[in-house]
Amino acid sequence: MAQTLEGQVAIVTGASGGLGAHFARLLAGEGAAVAVTARRLDKVEALAGELAGQGHKAMAMRLDVSDAQSIAPAFDEIEAALGPVSILINNAGVGGEGMALDLSVEAFDSTFDVNVRGTYFAAQAAARLMFASGVAERGIGRIVNLASIASETVLPGLSAYCGSKAAVAMLTKVMAREWARRGIAVNALAPGYIETGINDFWWPTEGGQKQLKGFPRRRLMQETDLDAAFQMLVGPSASAIAGSLIVIDDGQSLPGGG
Ligand SMILES: NC(=O)c1ccc[n+]([C@@H]2O[C@H](COP(=O)([O-])OP(=O)(O)OC[C@H]3O[C@@H](n4cnc5c(N)ncnc54)[C@H](OP(=O)(O)O)[C@@H]3O)[C@@H](O)[C@H]2O)c1
Repeated sequence: MAQTLEGQVAIVTGASGGLGAHFARLLAGEGAAVAVTARRLDKVEALAGELAGQGHKAMAMRLDVSDAQSIAPAFDEIEAALGPVSILINNAGVGGEGMALDLSVEAFDSTFDVNVRGTYFAAQAAARLMFASGVAERGIGRIVNLASIASETVLPGLSAYCGSKAAVAMLTKVMAREWARRGIAVNALAPGYIETGINDFWWPTEGGQKQLKGFPRRRLMQETDLDAAFQMLVGPSASAIAGSLIVIDDGQSLPGGG
């Protein structure tokens, strides 16, 4: 794709690996200056170094999105360093495995603290910056939340995760509605299973292999399968997309066996 994001500034949460690091590389490749954030500072520093080495503008910052109060000050610091933020990739997420009968309060809370509160208050902080700087008025404000097929699919053993991702889908729609007229496009990607740190323990197990064999194409997805939709949601074509949940799952959530 051409450099559609030249001069723009993007923040990626949970960019220390997996999809977040992949999205950061895509954004930089399209010309955006990128702030890569996560709890593991060494990882985001290495990524920012890699991007800078390729001639991109990048910075790293430690950010734990479960500490909601820390998000806005971190975003302020990023804007001061890179310029007006126009794109937020709300990617940080945790799994939260456990059957509903057994799940502890702590495990439930930690899933919702990252996936729901983190997503919510990062969107709020980014939107406030976009309104204050005039970015929203220019119609280029973009917030992409990471939902999941778990937002809409019943996955036994993942009740907290499914609940959290259903919440992400709904808060995406409400924020999209509140901010549509004011120039920010809020949308969500809902990927199927891609092997990353969030699930790599599962696929070699008997249960994981059985699940994989139940997918229509008997395979996991690749990070790059999300690229076209991702690029659409951060770029100019998203000016007429608001509150959409774009499912990209290789058919994994389609009902029916065989
Ligand atoms: N892989 C899939 O199959 C799949 C499918 C659908 C949706 N998703 C969603 O895609 C997103 C990315 O997941 P992934 O597959 O790339 O998993 P991953 O490799 O485990 O990456 C998760 C990222 O979230 C960060 N993170 C976790 N807790 C955080 C916190 N409290 N504050 C800030 N960052 C935090 C992690 O960084 P630190 O540990 O360094 O903080 C890590 O960079 C998640 O929202 C996930 O739910 C993934």
